[in-house]
Amino acid sequence: MIRTVPTQPIDGQKPGTSGLRKKVPVFQQPHYVENFVQSIFDTLEGFAGTTLIVGGDGRYFNREVVQTILKMAAAAGFGRVRVGQGGLLSTPAVSVAIRKHQAFGGIILSASHNPGGPDGDFGIKYNIGNGGPAPEKITDAIFARTRSISEYRIADVPDVDIDSIGETVLGDTVVEIVDPVADYAELMQQLFDFEAIRALFAGGFTMRFDAMSAVTGPYAKRILEGLLGAAPGTVVNDTPLPDFGGHHPDPNPVNAKDLYDLMMGPDAPDFGAASDGDGDRNLIIGRGIFVTPSDSLAILAAHAHLAPGYAAGIAGIARSMPTSLAADHVAKALGIGIYETPTGWKFFGNLLDAGLATICGEESAGTGSNHIREKDGVWAVLMWLTLLSHRRQPAIDIVREHWARFGRNYYSRHDYEAVPTQAANGVMEAIRAQIPTLPGQAFGSLTVSSADDFSYHDPVDGSDSKNQGLRILFENGSRIVYRLSGTGTEGATLRVYLERFEADTARQDLDPQAALAEVIALARKLGAVVEKTGMAEPSVVT
Ligand code: G6P
Ligand code: ZN
Repeated sequence: MIRTVPTQPIDGQKPGTSGLRKKVPVFQQPHYVENFVQSIFDTLEGFAGTTLIVGGDGRYFNREVVQTILKMAAAAGFGRVRVGQGGLLSTPAVSVAIRKHQAFGGIILSASHNPGGPDGDFGIKYNIGNGGPAPEKITDAIFARTRSISEYRIADVPDVDIDSIGETVLGDTVVEIVDPVADYAELMQQLFDFEAIRALFAGGFTMRFDAMSAVTGPYAKRILEGLLGAAPGTVVNDTPLPDFGGHHPDPNPVNAKDLYDLMMGPDAPDFGAASDGDGDRNLIIGRGIFVTPSDSLAILAAHAHLAPGYAAGIAGIARSMPTSLAADHVAKALGIGIYETPTGWKFFGNLLDAGLATICGEESAGTGSNHIREKDGVWAVLMWLTLLSHRRQPAIDIVREHWARFGRNYYSRHDYEAVPTQAANGVMEAIRAQIPTLPGQAFGSLTVSSADDFSYHDPVDGSDSKNQGLRILFENGSRIVYRLSGTGTEGATLRVYLERFEADTARQDLDPQAALAEVIALARKLGAVVEKTGMAEPSVVT
């Protein structure tokens, strides 16, 4: 019943930071999915009889690709394939399942926070046995295989009913359709004190969680409304839709505008949160305050010991380089390690595996811990609820007290999107050329203490990653970082990350753009940003 189908290499199947990501019509080409999936299997060794986890964020084409993968996994000789009901599994839930069931690996179908639908994006990503994204060594080998593939193998069987929990036998392979939430919810109950959070909600605490019509709906509904007793209706946009209801499922104040406006208005509940398409990003908003991901990382790290899963304290904090220095102040106060890595969650894997870091975070709305090897949106929300259940204070007060204790790192990111690649490179070159002469120079109140092209030496495997962004640090704790996005799809996206440290509590309540005005002006001037990009203002300010 196994059919061997002749095929030819298809161009452009190179996995990026988060797997192979393309427009849906690209994936719909004949053999496109099969070639890539077979290239994954051809690259792996020793998986006969083992378990594979499969699931996606429910976006358009998810169900069709799940069927293809099931038939190909059976043909390849996996012993068992665990699939979330309806083909759904959030990215963190795949990571949980791989670890819990000691699976060989997992395949995630998602393009994260990119829009879905027939003209939207789709993606296929392979995760290894530790639950994290495949390292470059493996993705390079997969890509090499896509360039030489000549056939793929697929079981000639009818589609599996992926909507009913239960087992189907395909040859020697058992396909198990599982509740997509169960394993994940079980792990969360081990990490967090659900009794304490239940008591918070029982006391009248109100919340809105916006699932953005993406994969976290079922998770948030079961955990927040079901297990924790939040009022019905707490979770909105809770049904995963193939086109995410036309929304852009990227949880930032711009795309989650309804939630943002609610939280800034008179009818705000006590707490607001959102997650992205595949459930790994998070947005945290208190009544009247958007908590930047950088601040959220610092605040959660400072309070992690309140959750049973971290009661022994945390070993260290890791943050991506452009993420603000707020977490560094916490690490210093706790006397624990702080690790500065290049952008991309995969750089945290070794630090987590080696036990050097416990909590990790990125300015791009990712927070997580050593419980899995992906960032985790719902986990971040439960961490915040833990904190709120202990402190019984508004989120805004918790944030202000954090600033009072550690100082505030005013932070903003200015994005110049769809810039011609040459122009974006021009800005980077202009800064790079100045780096050697910047230290010691004074610009108004800003004196440069150091400047470099960030490179990372991984303390665990000894690997080096160069050219990871240009940093200019100032004596007063301010910082400018220039970096080109690795995930943009149109032209280049120049990201300018701006930061200023303020220890004086009397000056910690300013509008970030105003507080950062001098840093912003200098960043534009040094990079000749306006002249080179032709843009008077950034396209997105967060
Ligand atoms: C993805 C990765 C993150 C990373 C982000 C950076 O979301 O999962 O780990 O921080 O991309 O995106 P950028 O567009 O700034 O390269
Ligand atoms: Zn995501």
